[in-house]
Amino acid sequence: MDETSTPETPAPHDGGSGGPERPGITRRGLFGLVGVGTAGLAVGAAAAVGTAAAVDAATAEGDGSGGVHPFYGEHQGGIVTPAQDRLHFAAFDVSSTLDRDGLVGLLQDWSAAAVLLTQGLEIGEGGAVGGSDYAPPSDTGEALGLPAAGLTLTFGFGPTLFTDADGVDRFGIADRRPEALAALPRFQGDALQPAWTGGDLAIQACADNPQVAVHAIRNLSRIAFGRASLRWSQLGFGRTSSTTRAQQTPRNLFGFKDGTANLKAEDTALVEEHVWTGSGDGPAWMTGGSYLVTRKIRMIIENWDRVQLQEQESLVGRTKGEGAPLSGGTEFTEPDFSATGATGEPLMPTASHVRLAHPDQNGGARMLRRGYNFVDGNDELGRLDAGLFFISYQRDPADFIAVQRSLAADGLNEYLRHVGSAVFAVPPGARPGGYVGSGLFA
Ligand code: HEM
Repeated sequence: MDETSTPETPAPHDGGSGGPERPGITRRGLFGLVGVGTAGLAVGAAAAVGTAAAVDAATAEGDGSGGVHPFYGEHQGGIVTPAQDRLHFAAFDVSSTLDRDGLVGLLQDWSAAAVLLTQGLEIGEGGAVGGSDYAPPSDTGEALGLPAAGLTLTFGFGPTLFTDADGVDRFGIADRRPEALAALPRFQGDALQPAWTGGDLAIQACADNPQVAVHAIRNLSRIAFGRASLRWSQLGFGRTSSTTRAQQTPRNLFGFKDGTANLKAEDTALVEEHVWTGSGDGPAWMTGGSYLVTRKIRMIIENWDRVQLQEQESLVGRTKGEGAPLSGGTEFTEPDFSATGATGEPLMPTASHVRLAHPDQNGGARMLRRGYNFVDGNDELGRLDAGLFFISYQRDPADFIAVQRSLAADGLNEYLRHVGSAVFAVPPGARPGGYVGSGLFA
């Protein structure tokens, strides 16, 4: 293990220089709860888990800190977890010199750090300011004084981890690749850029505080130094989906409610059927996992903003204010695809997004959407470089492929450009003391 890049213990304190204390459980507060230890990372992690109930109790009182989602569990967090407001997504390429043991070591170190980060704890010997004055701090420090903010960290494996571009099985896992995990086919209108596409490994960090999400990705990248490097990363704000009925439906940058007909955590039978991989679906190490698709979709919002309201609504298939289907009713009324207007034309237009994406048009295919808005500055023409960082989780990427193919006829396409794409196998959650993806190497 690399001493400088691998956390060993939770930091004993935040040194008192972490800026103003926020209400709720902060990194400083947690150390008080954990009790300071000098034992190794595993012990530190166990101590952190032990405090989860205390932290949950504290944050359940509505202090705005977003709560704590334990890292360990049957499924990974960040899927049916109530969608947080902020995203930092990162795709990594593993080093050409990394071997199987090195990859396992990286996943172990990432998991141990994730246990601490998701509890709002500093990582590494001495944390941000409690270590040697003569060594770089183990934790980069920008989250000092911030709560856990509902941070979830979700890890995924890309097809190229199993067999690289030259067909080489670098880690002896090629025969364990699920058949479902293959590069996505080319879709009509794709304008994919390598800079936003693919990756051997992925980490999705979601939190209710942007600095907490960024701190997590930054520190996990640092831990990976020499073993995996960032291929691309994406910041997102303003979740574009709800994943529970308790959440209000948010809006995307076209100004429309997004997430109305999404799969919700409460739909347990549907989630079981459409999100989690079952025991007969492929290799056993993926049971209880899911498949993650990302699409970086640029939205040509300057053109969209010149489109009449009625036309915008026809393209989506829903009203802009209420989010109700154009066939009538209110937001959560099911669209009626057979309803017609005075001249016999369907009230849900044939090229409308909602019609084409609906399970009825796609052999029942469904997914859990969990995307975010992005604005990455502007382009050379003075247009906002804005869009939707689309994220979906499904039991089989074939469901995404079916819907995306159907969307070839989508009227919205005139205002969209897909510039990035990736697919990852997301293994089930890690068990206490274990590490994410351990089944793949068992
Ligand atoms: C920037 C691109 C996109 C925009 C602006 C957009 C916007 C919307 C909006 C406003 C809705 C209606 C509200 C809702 O039920 O959530 C919706 C629904 C939906 N979208 Fe998208 N979407 C985009 C891309 C995609 C992609 C790439 C897919 C998958 C391939 C997709 C799949 C769906 C599905 C499955 C529904 C629900 C349909 C239903 O059951 O009624 N969307 N989208």
